[in-house]
Amino acid sequence: MNGPLLAVSGLSKHYRRAGKMVAAADDVAFDIQPGQTLALAGPSGSGKSTIARLVLRLIEPDAGNIRFEDADFLALGGAALRARRARLQMVFQDPLAAFNPRATVARVLDDPLRIHGIAERSERPRRIAALLERVGLPTELAQRAIHEISGGQRQRVAIARAIATKPSLIVLDEAVSALDVSVRGKILELLLDLQREEGIAYLFISHDLGVVRAIAHRVAILDGGRIAESGDARAVIDVPRSAIGKALVAAAPKLPAPARTAS
Ligand SMILES: Nc1ncnc2c1ncn2[C@@H]1O[C@H](COP(=O)(O)OP(=O)(O)OP(=O)(O)O)[C@@H](O)[C@H]1O
Ligand SMILES: [Mg+2]
Repeated sequence: MNGPLLAVSGLSKHYRRAGKMVAAADDVAFDIQPGQTLALAGPSGSGKSTIARLVLRLIEPDAGNIRFEDADFLALGGAALRARRARLQMVFQDPLAAFNPRATVARVLDDPLRIHGIAERSERPRRIAALLERVGLPTELAQRAIHEISGGQRQRVAIARAIATKPSLIVLDEAVSALDVSVRGKILELLLDLQREEGIAYLFISHDLGVVRAIAHRVAILDGGRIAESGDARAVIDVPRSAIGKALVAAAPKLPAPARTAS
């Protein structure tokens, strides 16, 4: 593959609300390089989740292009789409809503291995144990139900499920927002570790600029469905240029001191 892992251009999605059209995404363009993290930040309703859903093809755009791993992602169907979907995974804010709460952890991790034909039935328990170890969970957790484990453990299971199919890109929509500060820090460390070792890229959505500054290489700040500014994450957060960027930084609780360098 030459060039970006994900290239989005002209992406638009409108919703009708109270008889008026609302632009949830308006001519949005960005690239993500292999192994890099792009954060989407912006106030509530600025279009972050809409863009995540468009990139994942959970909803269809009104206009725009999405190239993923050198393929026209919006034109894929059937087996080609299924194969490409394995390479593009997701982690959402609330794993209790994403999984059947009564399912066992083993079941949740078995699904992608089975559906994408990654491992034979006899081999899958070993794969599941390896995935649990990879995300820092004890293998005994496999037999517990999703609703019986902690929120932090559940988010680790969601990450294990996402990496089961060896993705090149994971979309994370407020994936650490519901966690308390110490658990959040550990999950961010796990994500950074996985990126270093497996070269996974992230589209990382967060309203928390401190988290964005800690994890992202680049950031795009959204306002009313449009990208108001984008660039190196630390440079943008330390010296925002757009009105919305300035307002978000001013409202952010205790950001770390500006970095000495912008890289
Ligand atoms: N299914 C839908 N039907 C109608 N309007 C929608 C729908 N989904 C999103 N919207 C509208 O699109 C805009 C963008 O919403 P979106 O959920 O993408 O914002 P967000 O940046 O993720 O916000 P938050 O930080 O609160 O999660 C909002 O005005 C929202 O009300
Ligand atoms: Mg959202």
